[in-house]
Amino acid sequence: PRTIWLSRHGESMYNLEGKIGGDAGLSPRGLKYAEKLPELVRQSAGYRDLTVWISTLKRTAETSQHLPYKKLQWKALDELDAGVCDGMTYEEIENKFPEDFKARDDNKYEYRYRGGESYRDVVIRLEPIIMELERQENILIVTHQAVLRCIYAYFMNVPQEESPWMSIPLHTLIKLEPKAYGTTVTRIKANI
Ligand code: F6P
Repeated sequence: PRTIWLSRHGESMYNLEGKIGGDAGLSPRGLKYAEKLPELVRQSAGYRDLTVWISTLKRTAETSQHLPYKKLQWKALDELDAGVCDGMTYEEIENKFPEDFKARDDNKYEYRYRGGESYRDVVIRLEPIIMELERQENILIVTHQAVLRCIYAYFMNVPQEESPWMSIPLHTLIKLEPKAYGTTVTRIKANI
């Protein structure tokens, strides 16, 4: 049966500092998750052969580095582009662009960062990924919070407008098994 596994990259230095976007490497804890991930996947997938899809950002390559499967990089899996806010903390954004901060709070799905993207934009750029996923057997996707929220909402049959509020925690492997009547979800937390 067709199975899709989802994981965020391990904790990055930017995650630690509360900064969004960027292309930071993993924190020591994030690197521990990368070491643990092959074992988590083995627990869940057994000896099935998987293909791993990652983004073009360093933190997903580092997270997948120990996985003994074929890897494919997709630009379309890169994190939501925060435009001029890239590299800032939410507090800095609120101080520097208070109106934008409020606008995002009012409509997180439609809000497009200046020079960047909205969740709606991400949903649209993910269309080819979703099409390809529908044709594939066993895929493990290691990518970013906003992107995973959109993919998760799609397979869970949740309206796309609700994707900004899906819970996709760090250091958790999510297994999705699409069935005729709905998708079965299993979450495996790494104890690190
Ligand atoms: O903080 C990690 C991160 O992946 C950022 O790079 C991204 O902007 C953010 O999460 C998306 O989450 P939210 O839409 O809730 O701000």
